[in-house]
Amino acid sequence: EWTMESFIENQIKLIRDKVGDHRVLCALSGGVDSSVAAVLVNKAVGDQLTCVYVDHGFMRKNESAEVKKIFTEQFQLNLVFVDASERFMSKVEGVSDPETKRKGIGNEFIRLFEDEARKLGKVDFLVQGTLYPDIVESGTETAETIKSHHNVGGLPEDMRFELIEPLRMLFKDEVREVGRELGIPDEIVSRQPFPGPGLAIRILGEITREKLDILREADAIVLDEIRKAGLYKELWQSFAVLPSTIKSVGVMGDGRTYAYPIIVRAVTSEDAMTADWARLPYDLMEKISNRIVNEVTGVNRVIYDITSKPPGTIEWE
Ligand code: XMP
Repeated sequence: EWTMESFIENQIKLIRDKVGDHRVLCALSGGVDSSVAAVLVNKAVGDQLTCVYVDHGFMRKNESAEVKKIFTEQFQLNLVFVDASERFMSKVEGVSDPETKRKGIGNEFIRLFEDEARKLGKVDFLVQGTLYPDIVESGTETAETIKSHHNVGGLPEDMRFELIEPLRMLFKDEVREVGRELGIPDEIVSRQPFPGPGLAIRILGEITREKLDILREADAIVLDEIRKAGLYKELWQSFAVLPSTIKSVGVMGDGRTYAYPIIVRAVTSEDAMTADWARLPYDLMEKISNRIVNEVTGVNRVIYDITSKPPGTIEWE
């Protein structure tokens, strides 16, 4: 009989056999897939696993600190934490084209990851949190050409590791179950997906520190209100987008404002291939709108995205 427990036991055995006494590397993002894969491999081979977390500066509010805390304090993972926000910021400076942004960030990520891997000496295996739908999807040409996805693929020849993909036969909800079984806290296991390039692809147009701060605050409010309304787990994703090429006129107190709008995006989905815009309750939308305009300096208007996928994609870039 197939159970979560037997799945975990089997995988641990398989990983141990495969790895032997070699070194294993893992790019940990704090997302569900990489977190569950990392903890599973850590259970199998302990200290032979080193995880690299790259903070590119496009993470959400408090996110990096929380990930660091959970994986070093609760799991004692061998974690290399790289603060690279300066490097990434210089890569995206003056860039407004979405694909150029994505590629710049993806390449820099790979370069940083290589640097860390070289520092560790001989590493033979790389853990990837690949899921079953990823395998199915990556075979198709369209998935590749619509948006270039950011992950640790594309490493150079001399950095070809043998892959360990313990989740490759699982769907997202099964990965979450495995994560729970492994004792990973709910704040990680129930996380909504977050794109590799992070907030960088939710600022339309050029990225600046000021815009990042605005988006980070607005996004935190969206998530806070969605959680308070008890809808976080029901939604595939819910987040804020800053269309920073637009400003509009508003009025606050008895003064005129001229500031950015924030777009709120919330969708339901099974696998991100298709998605439906979420019918959020009006009073929740009102709370989100009021809070963003009142609490986030530089924003005077809130817009709700009512486009499904297709024809819209979930992210705006
Ligand atoms: P789209 O916008 O194409 O997104 O409808 C589909 C799903 O993929 C996520 N996404 C990414 N995930 N690296 C990732 O790991 C990326 O570069 C990336 N870009 C988009 C997106 O958040 C949605 O869940």
